[in-house]
Amino acid sequence: MIKDDPFFWFRQNTITIPGVRGEHKFMHITDTHVNVSDEESTDEERATAEKQDEMWKTFKGRFAEANGEVYGEAQQIPTKDAFEKQLALAEELKPEALLLSGDNLEYSHPTGERYLTKKLGAYTGKYMIVPGNHEDQSFGTLWSPGVKVLDFEGFRIAAVDDSRKTVSPEDLSTLRSLCDEGVPLIILCHIPLSTPNCKALCKEKMTHMDDYFYIDSEAEDECARGFVRLCMESDAVKALICGHVHGYYKMELIPGKPQIIGSQGMAGAVDLITVTG
Ligand SMILES: [Fe+2]
Repeated sequence: MIKDDPFFWFRQNTITIPGVRGEHKFMHITDTHVNVSDEESTDEERATAEKQDEMWKTFKGRFAEANGEVYGEAQQIPTKDAFEKQLALAEELKPEALLLSGDNLEYSHPTGERYLTKKLGAYTGKYMIVPGNHEDQSFGTLWSPGVKVLDFEGFRIAAVDDSRKTVSPEDLSTLRSLCDEGVPLIILCHIPLSTPNCKALCKEKMTHMDDYFYIDSEAEDECARGFVRLCMESDAVKALICGHVHGYYKMELIPGKPQIIGSQGMAGAVDLITVTG
């Protein structure tokens, strides 16, 4: 069983949505930062992939240490091997959907996009993906501008690009319309939100992090502020799932509304999320 591989470490999360029947299981990974090269890669791409993978061997360890997380020999594997283990785990666990919340690739480049498209194309389950700040906002065939929505029994998941610490006016408008429909909504995005309710926790627990790591409810950018406030204030938004900080944190945007921040998938972090009534 691949789930017993010492590479993985799991966090269990529950999102409660009144009226949802049964238990709906999701697997969330983020910040896999994959570096790859293939026979079509240029020499420059190959050299960059090797250099960046080497760099992450040190840096993912530093993030793990800063966040008090696991980082043994099993986690010190190349990013490509890590991503393939994560996909094999998803095949074994068969979640209702695999959720990938950005920085899937270390950077947007043709080899990486080919690789990701092929691997996710071969994955037999449903998946949802958003770009991270390390990626272009339109990478390969995997992401194009616009909110993406999947319907489940009694709730929806909306994938939103907030990788530039804001959302587009069009996406904000789409989200407002979705909220108006009243169907319970879980938001999947890359960068976490900082609200008055979780600010103290951000400051206390994420002391090594500055405002690079989250979008503030008082942000100067109007769409950024609008996005955070919609997530806080709309009854339709039930939870937010994201990444970016390379450490696992669970907090509440407002009391009862969880924000699940996944840790670095390239170092074995996996969020198991159960949505239930
Ligand atoms: Fe990242």
